[in-house]
Amino acid sequence: MKRRDFLISTAAAGVAAATFSPAFAKGRGGDKLRVAMIGTGLRGQSQLGPILSRDDVELVAICDTQQVMLGHALANIDKAGRRKPKVYGGNGDANAWKALLAQKGIDAVFIVTPWEWHAPMAIAAMEAGVAVGCEVVAGITLQDHWDVLRAQQRTGTPYMLLENVCYRRDVMAVLQMVRAGLFGELVHMQAGYQHDLRGVKFNSGNPDEPYGSGVEFGAKGFSEAQWRTQHSIDRNGELYPSHGIGPCAMYANIHRGNRFTHINAFATKARGLHDYILKHPKGGPDHPNAKVQFKLGDVVTTTLRCENGETIILQHDTSLPRPYSLGFRVQGTDGLWMDVNKSIHIEGRSPPHKWEDAQAYYDQYDHPLWRKYADKAAGAGHGGMDWFVVHAFIEAVKASAPMPIDIYDAVAWSAITPLSEQSIAEDYRTLAFPDFTEGKWKSRRPIFALDDRY
Ligand SMILES: NC(=O)c1ccc[n+]([C@@H]2O[C@H](COP(=O)([O-])OP(=O)(O)OC[C@H]3O[C@@H](n4cnc5c(N)ncnc54)[C@H](O)[C@@H]3O)[C@@H](O)[C@H]2O)c1
Repeated sequence: MKRRDFLISTAAAGVAAATFSPAFAKGRGGDKLRVAMIGTGLRGQSQLGPILSRDDVELVAICDTQQVMLGHALANIDKAGRRKPKVYGGNGDANAWKALLAQKGIDAVFIVTPWEWHAPMAIAAMEAGVAVGCEVVAGITLQDHWDVLRAQQRTGTPYMLLENVCYRRDVMAVLQMVRAGLFGELVHMQAGYQHDLRGVKFNSGNPDEPYGSGVEFGAKGFSEAQWRTQHSIDRNGELYPSHGIGPCAMYANIHRGNRFTHINAFATKARGLHDYILKHPKGGPDHPNAKVQFKLGDVVTTTLRCENGETIILQHDTSLPRPYSLGFRVQGTDGLWMDVNKSIHIEGRSPPHKWEDAQAYYDQYDHPLWRKYADKAAGAGHGGMDWFVVHAFIEAVKASAPMPIDIYDAVAWSAITPLSEQSIAEDYRTLAFPDFTEGKWKSRRPIFALDDRY
């Protein structure tokens, strides 16, 4: 179904994909979209690339608590030949972003701060009528997720979770395969965040060597070591679900005729981070951080059950040595795909009981968005997918179109974290998954990447 047909059919059925306030409903065509960024750390600086490359966007304001991060961002902006934005913060003031949101004429804001700031910043931005593009995750507690949802519903301001892996080239080709019925009826999916982050959670604190340069964190660390590591001390759960669940949710049409119904989680013992501190040349048993107790299990396995009978397994695995892999597996009545070795097996097409190399399938089912924009995306972060997520958000805001990854997706994907923590804390209990759509999942229809515009 084409997006236009979809919009007409959903409107006719009284099933708006998202309700936007009149300011957004009239469309933003014509002038440049005026955007701001809160949090110009390593991710924000990387996302400036796709933003500054666009003629239809003007970056009018940036904010960060730290001067060093603002300095890098301003250098990027200058190098791109773009006008200097108004700058907020730089003096450690954790509330300078409030003044940014009070600046007149900002259409949209990218929120690229530590997790604990996402919900309050998004809620305030929506209250100010500023469209939100929020980095993963949506909030910390389950209540945060309800609060973000209610703020979007109350204000009608667009909100998109900037989940870039949904735009990965092979992930989108597999979406086309799923939609074409190549795997038959979907039965089971697997994915996760399987990324050795030991050298991210610890460094020396020197901005010139952010990865693996030491065993410091918190006030003595730099970038994510300043805040992310503390979550590994305080929490035990699936701390980063959206890179894995996002694509699976799109495959399974979650919130568009399907929904998560149950969740539980198991965690292994926590060994990897302590072991890293002991073995690092700047660490050792006498280093003060060798006494830190980490709560986060090295491998956390979360299982979700869906209304239409599928199961989804997510694995969070960030504290042990391993090559990066999100570990996707998509399995149906006619075959399966696994991303680790680019392997696919389709009954009747593949040799019996044998894997095939998936590349020919990726090429055949390459998504129209990638066919159209691969050249523009070249050079953007994470193999180009970061360009697509920025593009999708900006185009959807300009057109007042439904957000491709909308508020229901955002809160449900992200609420996996507090729910998995609760399950582990309650002796691995299986919990009912809250229906954030309050029944609307039954009549909503897929929109993600349905045409070649977003
Ligand atoms: N989608 C992806 O692939 C991807 C990749 C990396 C990071 N991220 C996400 O991006 C976000 C930022 O991560 P990062 O790697 O850039 O971390 P970072 O620590 O490098 O940057 C965060 C920045 O936020 C600033 N900040 C903290 N509190 C603030 C406040 N109150 N007001 C204004 N600025 C504040 C910090 O000074 C820092 O510069 C996180 O949510 C992270 O999970 C996503």
